[in-house]
Amino acid sequence: MSLLKTIFKNKKSNQNTPLCIPKHIAFIMDGNGRWAKRRSMPREYGHSKGAEVFRRVIRYCGDIGVEHITVYAFSTENWKRPESEVNAIMKLLSNFMDEAFADLEKEKVRVVFLGSKAPFSDELREKMEKLEKDSSIYKRILNVAFNYGGRDEIVNACNELIADGVTNVTSELIDSKLYTCLSPDPDLIVRTAGEYRISNFLLWQSAYSEFYFTDKLWPDITSEDVDKAIASYSRRERRFGAVSPSTETVK
Ligand code: IPE
Ligand code: IPE
Ligand code: MG
Repeated sequence: MSLLKTIFKNKKSNQNTPLCIPKHIAFIMDGNGRWAKRRSMPREYGHSKGAEVFRRVIRYCGDIGVEHITVYAFSTENWKRPESEVNAIMKLLSNFMDEAFADLEKEKVRVVFLGSKAPFSDELREKMEKLEKDSSIYKRILNVAFNYGGRDEIVNACNELIADGVTNVTSELIDSKLYTCLSPDPDLIVRTAGEYRISNFLLWQSAYSEFYFTDKLWPDITSEDVDKAIASYSRRERRFGAVSPSTETVK
């Protein structure tokens, strides 16, 4: 059965709603630590399982036609965690990049890192820059938010505009300087692990995003959960501040 058919099957209960694949989905991949704790394992184990799930989910999103995917992998605030945990996450990033290099021609996805690369080791930074460069021929985009913070991103954009000598700031000019400048605003933001907050993620870009929350921990997320999020998104009416078309026709 094709992946899209799987989605239609899951939507049996809501057959009148046409399925709408978001152009851009963003994931706040939360709950790795709790997943490990429930198994009496160190938090690093949860991150390692989370990284596997991340690869599966991005592949699935690509297969069903999502053109832009953003994943929140490490925030500007996550440096506050124990050094051993931070080091383990850096190692997972390095492993992800090794696999991404090997699979470049198969996956055909342009990898973009969101966030300043300044705090990383030279080795990691060079690998990140090389992956961005080598994958830049592809159209489909995977934004990996790593050392990412929405506030940092906006401050950085303002400073770049000042450096360019801009004196009249517009929304479009800020857009053009965001780390996400290659992608449209996210249509759908999914957060796992039962937390209902934004945690400094895509503060500017989420102005009109739809949100989907699930109690499931990130390492337990499957393609069926992605289907559920997309099914929920398909039922939403996005008005962007205007009135509903059905309201307009009421005399
Ligand atoms: C998300 O999982 C991954 C990162 C923030 C790096 P957490 O590590 O935050 O997991 P919990 O929230 O502690 O369960
Ligand atoms: C958000 O999760 C950051 C990532 C998923 C990378 P956190 O676990 O860091 O967020 P808080 O601290 O619960 O808000
Ligand atoms: Mg967390």
